[in-house]
Amino acid sequence: MNKPKRYLITSALPYANGPIHIGHLAGVYVPADIYVRYLRSKGEDVVFIGGSDEHGVPITIKARKEGVKPQDIVDKYHAVIKKSFEDFGISFDIYSRTTSKIHHKTASDFFKKLYDNGKFIKKTSEQYYDEEAHQFLADRYITGICPHCGNENAYGDQCEKCGSALSPMELINPHSAISGSMPSLRETSHWYLPLNEYEDFFKEWILQNHKDWKTNVYGQCKSWIDLGLQPRAVSRDLNWGVPVPVEGAQGKVLYVWFDAPIGYISNTIELCPDKWEKYWKDAETKLVHFIGKDNIVFHCIVFPAMLKAHGEYILPDNVPANEFLNLEGDKLSTSRNWAVWLHEYLEEFKGKEDVLRYALCANAPETKDNDFTWKDFQARNNSELVAILGNFVNRALVLTAKYFDNKVPAINQTTAYDSETLAEIPKIKQNIEESIEAYRFREALKETMSLARLGNKYLADTEPWKLAKTDMSRVSTILSISLQICANLTVAIEPFMPFTVQKLLKMLNISQYKWDSFGKPDLLKTGEALGKAELLFDKIEDDAIAKQIQKLLDTKKANELNSYKPNAVKPNIAFADFMKTDIRAGVVTDCKKVPKSDKLLQFTINDGTGERTILSGIAQSYPSPEELIGTQVCFVANFEPRKILGMMSEGMILSVEDADGKSVLIRPVREVTNGTAIG
Ligand code: 2FM
Ligand code: ZN
Repeated sequence: MNKPKRYLITSALPYANGPIHIGHLAGVYVPADIYVRYLRSKGEDVVFIGGSDEHGVPITIKARKEGVKPQDIVDKYHAVIKKSFEDFGISFDIYSRTTSKIHHKTASDFFKKLYDNGKFIKKTSEQYYDEEAHQFLADRYITGICPHCGNENAYGDQCEKCGSALSPMELINPHSAISGSMPSLRETSHWYLPLNEYEDFFKEWILQNHKDWKTNVYGQCKSWIDLGLQPRAVSRDLNWGVPVPVEGAQGKVLYVWFDAPIGYISNTIELCPDKWEKYWKDAETKLVHFIGKDNIVFHCIVFPAMLKAHGEYILPDNVPANEFLNLEGDKLSTSRNWAVWLHEYLEEFKGKEDVLRYALCANAPETKDNDFTWKDFQARNNSELVAILGNFVNRALVLTAKYFDNKVPAINQTTAYDSETLAEIPKIKQNIEESIEAYRFREALKETMSLARLGNKYLADTEPWKLAKTDMSRVSTILSISLQICANLTVAIEPFMPFTVQKLLKMLNISQYKWDSFGKPDLLKTGEALGKAELLFDKIEDDAIAKQIQKLLDTKKANELNSYKPNAVKPNIAFADFMKTDIRAGVVTDCKKVPKSDKLLQFTINDGTGERTILSGIAQSYPSPEELIGTQVCFVANFEPRKILGMMSEGMILSVEDADGKSVLIRPVREVTNGTAIG
């Protein structure tokens, strides 16, 4: 498009059913924030829209599990997520939520307009219904046997073992994941958006006119379009969400993926009730959606089809979706606690928000899935931020304090090398611009660091500390040029490291310059006093990293302890094999939580001959472990001893899981002598 008049930047609305982790930041919010900060620095008219996605089945399930209302869940996590974004400097112009009144009205009106204009088709079909939970079941909440590979835990939409896409009707022996009961089939009607009618439009709009989109995005869209688009249901039978605003739709709400993207519109209305239409309805606005790869189809196909059906809205100019970030070689997972949670990071690395922003951007999964490792994080900090950026700034400032009373020295005569160095700055600026505008943020960050590298090399080559005895006029020029590079750095790094820039501005005693000034050799005035030099970054020591790695190893161990599935039917074994297991009864003489672990309890068991320690991953089921003292339990006595969190665990305590997934200890119905073997 020609130069846009204004920018509307959205970032995926995260589900408010848990806190957010590094994968969210790396995939969506850091890139979006860099882009927006850059546009603001360029003086563009831009709004940056964020918010929580507070509807959908997972939220109702979580509420049911915790015995609270869905509203309680979203209130809690909306606040947690909002705070994490603030803490990491994600500079939304608004961070609202889809349970807001404005959103309900906007989404409802949007649906109504499409409904009134005949844009939907209504279809009746049979769907699974949970008679115990009194609700229809979303595909994901029906489990059963995969007809293709026999996996007993396939979902109603997909078998994760063989990868087949499934429909719930194909599952053998289906069960409700909510109550565990066998669901029945009931007839229900829903409204569908006939995406098939938009196929020609998508072929032209994406396949022909948006070859500029990222390969991963374009590729996904192409395979969807090539497979043929199908009508998509936009309503659900559920009592949590935006009610379907037509008669006879009691008990039905808008499908969460219908209402969530409308949240971008609602939040813009909330932000600027008088101007919002300019952002959404004027062709000179550039709309960009920042999302993760699992959201591509919704933002490139479903939402644009909705906007097109509505008729008044612009379509996205780009959807620069990222791939996924893994953690130490494994997929990030909320349920397995395999994540670096932002609120926890900040407790352990106080004041190091920018270090994480930097490490995540430098290693962002822009073209393929990438791995976050703590070693890489440490290296990024120590060898790049400390050794290059921090070191350069510190040397320039400390030398100025030493030789020029902490005032900006004058540029006297310049050499060819000085001019060459200064001439590099506008070139670096242009490279950063090109990279950011093409959504290549890793490359842009690398270019930004090349400005600090330039400064470091300049100081190393000119060695002002050696000239101080003989040629102060030359030292003055060298330090002045170095400080001008520092001042240019404040503009260059602001989109990437907004906290560091504040420290640097203070040290240079200037206010933030706009992007326009970037490239100029005279951002600091000769004779102006500077602030106090401080270290921009500290070295991260090996023990801090080892602690994080140990924490992940503990999580892995706890997951292993928890992964035993009592329900799975196993093949028969010989009596002799069973007899190899030495199960005994013993009384609990002590029981307490293991420090720094949410999952583990430390049991001391009198096993008839003495006492032994057994760690068990059932802490969440027994919040007052001391109450177990005096109880007799059953344990596997010849379980290979294992070291967990530095402690030896000698055995395995037996328990079963109740319907809510809570562990229940197994014990003899009558007290027996400690150490009695079972069998
Ligand atoms: O994947 C998710 O976390 C969704 N809640 C994203 C929604 S983006 C938008 F449509 F609001
Ligand atoms: Zn399968």
